[in-house]
Amino acid sequence: MQQNEVKEIRNLLEAVKYPGSSQNIVALDMVQYIRTEGDKVSFRLVFQRKEDPFAASLKKKCETVILENTSYKNVAIEMVYMQDLERPFSLEKVKNVVAVSSGKGGVGKSTVSANLAVALAMQGYKVGLVDADIFGPSIPKMFGCEDERPYMTEVEGKEYIVPVEKYGVKLLSIGFFVDSDSATVWRGPMASNALKQMVEQGYWEELDYMLIDLPPGTSDIHLTLVQTVALTGAIVVSTPQQVALADAVKGINMFESPGIAVPVLGLVENMAWFTPAELPENRYYIFGKEGAKQLAEERGLRLLGQIPVVQSICDSGDSGKPVALNVNSVIGQAFAELAIRVSETVDAQQEIARRVRVSKK
Ligand SMILES: Nc1ncnc2c1ncn2[C@@H]1O[C@H](COP(=O)(O)OP(=O)(O)O)[C@@H](O)[C@H]1O
Ligand SMILES: [Mg+2]
Repeated sequence: MQQNEVKEIRNLLEAVKYPGSSQNIVALDMVQYIRTEGDKVSFRLVFQRKEDPFAASLKKKCETVILENTSYKNVAIEMVYMQDLERPFSLEKVKNVVAVSSGKGGVGKSTVSANLAVALAMQGYKVGLVDADIFGPSIPKMFGCEDERPYMTEVEGKEYIVPVEKYGVKLLSIGFFVDSDSATVWRGPMASNALKQMVEQGYWEELDYMLIDLPPGTSDIHLTLVQTVALTGAIVVSTPQQVALADAVKGINMFESPGIAVPVLGLVENMAWFTPAELPENRYYIFGKEGAKQLAEERGLRLLGQIPVVQSICDSGDSGKPVALNVNSVIGQAFAELAIRVSETVDAQQEIARRVRVSKK
């Protein structure tokens, strides 16, 4: 019965909007651990920042909506701030978790995730790739394994999802579990849960890198991710186009905001230029020149790589063989270099994190 009661409370709390936002506190993933016992309801309200000016009024609203619409007599709300929460889950055998993000869709985030994963695997690292783009999972297609279905395994009484393995990369995608048409109607909280499950319940074993291909933008799934797993850092992908860059800035700001505080490892400029096969010396800057490079300089971030526009990327995405597999090609080389730059930056980041831990002791 608990389940229905919890659902009832959750439904009621959906009436409480976060001031100034069109979304309610449930959709924003601010409500956790709803419990009912006798005439008492308890749950946790999570705020992104300390001293949220709306904390007290939101608490009051939650109490009122429950007391007025149910027979519960007692509402206990635990108010927590995200910075104070222990990052709850650090995947024991996973050394680095790196989110791949973009402000805008269609800039090549999945292409970069897939090829970076393959390039790292070809350099001898153990790599996992989580396709968290619930609204447009494309990793299964890019790896040519849309028809694969991960199976479950039980280890010491716990159930795990075994990732699909292709080109040396362990993969989990929401695309393996639902057909792509229905994925688009998933609501925020369901999407967040799916991500959580893939990360926490995946049978990843030892990994040097877990890459997470995030949905574009700054949705609550990003928030879930930082609450779920200790991220080593985030990579932001953009094209040199002004509209894409403006959205990339939003992404950088989100990661760097105090409530999230995920280090931005750097930018990847995708579709940086076009070189026709018959004029290999020429570069045409069809989406603008070095926009992401300039943005990186402005924000004091690393430019991790510049990937040109090439037909073979598009073809290989459709044929299920990432271009990075061909290290001898110009584009394969670009991804190999990106992988080197990423692993250097991750190592440097881990060193900073280690020093911070030591100095806190
Ligand atoms: N550097 C590139 N050159 C040519 N086509 C590209 C390049 N990067 C991405 N594409 C193509 O652009 C489309 C969108 O890329 P995708 O990685 O799915 O974007 P996102 O994940 O950001 O939505 C795909 O068809 C992909 O093959
Ligand atoms: Mg994508």
